[in-house]
Amino acid sequence: MNTTVNLAGVTLKNPVMTASGTFGSGEEFSEFVDLNRLGAVVTKGVANIPWEGNKTPRVAEVYGGMLNAVGLQNPGIDLFIKRDIPFLKQYDTKIIVNVCGKTTKDYVEVVEKLSDQPVDMLEINISCPNVKEGGIAFGQDPKAVEAITKAVKEKAKQPVIMKLSPNVTDITEMARAAEAGGADVLSLINTLTGMKIDIDRRCFVLANRTGGMSGPAIHPIAVRMVYQTAQAVKIPIIGMGGIMTAADAIEMILAGAIAVSVGTANFTNPSVTMEIVSGIEEYMKKYQVEDVKELIGAVRDRM
Ligand SMILES: Cc1cc2nc3c(=O)[nH]c(=O)nc-3n(C[C@H](O)[C@H](O)[C@H](O)COP(=O)(O)O)c2cc1C
Repeated sequence: MNTTVNLAGVTLKNPVMTASGTFGSGEEFSEFVDLNRLGAVVTKGVANIPWEGNKTPRVAEVYGGMLNAVGLQNPGIDLFIKRDIPFLKQYDTKIIVNVCGKTTKDYVEVVEKLSDQPVDMLEINISCPNVKEGGIAFGQDPKAVEAITKAVKEKAKQPVIMKLSPNVTDITEMARAAEAGGADVLSLINTLTGMKIDIDRRCFVLANRTGGMSGPAIHPIAVRMVYQTAQAVKIPIIGMGGIMTAADAIEMILAGAIAVSVGTANFTNPSVTMEIVSGIEEYMKKYQVEDVKELIGAVRDRM
């Protein structure tokens, strides 16, 4: 049975990765997850300098998922390089570093600092709904998507994944813009902007007022967007959004994703990523699928 997939020249032992911001840099989960079994670990977003993130409360539970407005709290690239990369290098898994910034210059600075690091790929977050400047400002305008992709590609030594926002009218427009800018891979979806109100106090639950919705309730939206994007571009797609089980991951692959990222599910079941790896293998056995690549985009109309 072959579970390997190839993303812009990088071979993953299986298509299961972690979603940025839900798995730290792997250390806090290494008690529950054998990181050697994952296709890749995608780290929490890192900027050129440390960010404090937003005021608390910054997470809330909602039906079918959660809202977060963490605001990309991170230690800055220098400490990340010293502390997190050496930790991950102990494992036989691919390392994908998620990069955030407020300006193009910020993103490029991080990308340049990572150029001589043992990192397999870069994932550029242009879709965070929780930071006022940068982040989503880049991800909602096709011209800006293309320009930031180009700027990053000029300096990047590793293949570049552009992470797209679902908070747009037509995600395929953003996908095409990233492809035109030279993106090697796309990942989608980031969180959907939401809001929760405390009716007793008549106040916003999150200090930031709005937050990004993630978890199982957004899965059908993510599947639809991955499918539409796969029809619109030639570059590979990493699918994410509400993947809780192997069945959800397989659905995403059938919709057109080459690999999947698991996010919010890690909070309720810290070993879920390993269960998804095993579940995909069981599915392949059950349906006599020799190579997982046979499943990519293999959805068809009901007979
Ligand atoms: C608490 C939290 C923090 C996140 N931080 C990041 C981040 O730093 N960078 C990023 O690109 N996405 C971040 N995301 C988005 C996830 O990577 C993912 O795209 C989204 O949550 C949808 O997947 P899920 O429903 O499986 O969680 C974060 C999500 C959550 C819930």
